[in-house]
Amino acid sequence: MKKEKRIEIAPSVLSADFSDMKKYIKIVEESEASWLHLDVMDGHFVPNITFGPKMVADIRKVTKLTLDVHLMITDPDNFIPAFLEAGADIITIHHESTVHLHRSLSYIREGNAKVGVSIVPSTPVSMLYEVLPFVDLVLIMSVNPGFGGQTIILETLKKVEILREKRERENYNFLIEIDGGVNRDNCKRVIDAGVDIIVAGSAVFKSENPVKEISILYNCG
Ligand code: DX5
Ligand code: ZN
Repeated sequence: MKKEKRIEIAPSVLSADFSDMKKYIKIVEESEASWLHLDVMDGHFVPNITFGPKMVADIRKVTKLTLDVHLMITDPDNFIPAFLEAGADIITIHHESTVHLHRSLSYIREGNAKVGVSIVPSTPVSMLYEVLPFVDLVLIMSVNPGFGGQTIILETLKKVEILREKRERENYNFLIEIDGGVNRDNCKRVIDAGVDIIVAGSAVFKSENPVKEISILYNCG
């Protein structure tokens, strides 16, 4: 019998070989994970470019994993319909990427996806307080977005603690996700801070045995 999960792991394909995406999806399907984290970067909001809605749509065709789409793009409103159409289960946008955050989030809500919001390490968590009643997920970036394989900024865990307390006090329902630099050596601290979902890219896909590494993260602590 599977051990009751305290957390969910969302493997990020950013660290996978994009020319062999199907193979990496299969690896995740073989593992305990049921989420797949997809990092969309535009070369403007972040200094890197990855892929767009077509990749999400193509992945959607071959898997039932929960597609957790992290949009690191400027002015996401223009592209939210395309990612909804592509079959994203969760769409997360950045507070820093849009002027009218509440409106942008409502575009996701109007589609058939869960609504996520994110902040970069230098943004105080209080910037999200007004939208917390309207979101299903808050993604705390624990590295500066743009690249996999960076070192976790442990100070960002304080935001997770604050969010967890606020969620309890105000009776909110959002999940708390952390993204960047999490691995088997620091996952206990991350879990103790109160996260529900851990994104893990290089820890999983740069390891010799990704399925085993995912299991190690599930059983962390
Ligand atoms: C970074 C991305 C992350 C990235 C995490 O901008 O948002 O999802 O894939 O990779 P690791 O786990 O290697 O830090
Ligand atoms: Zn991400």
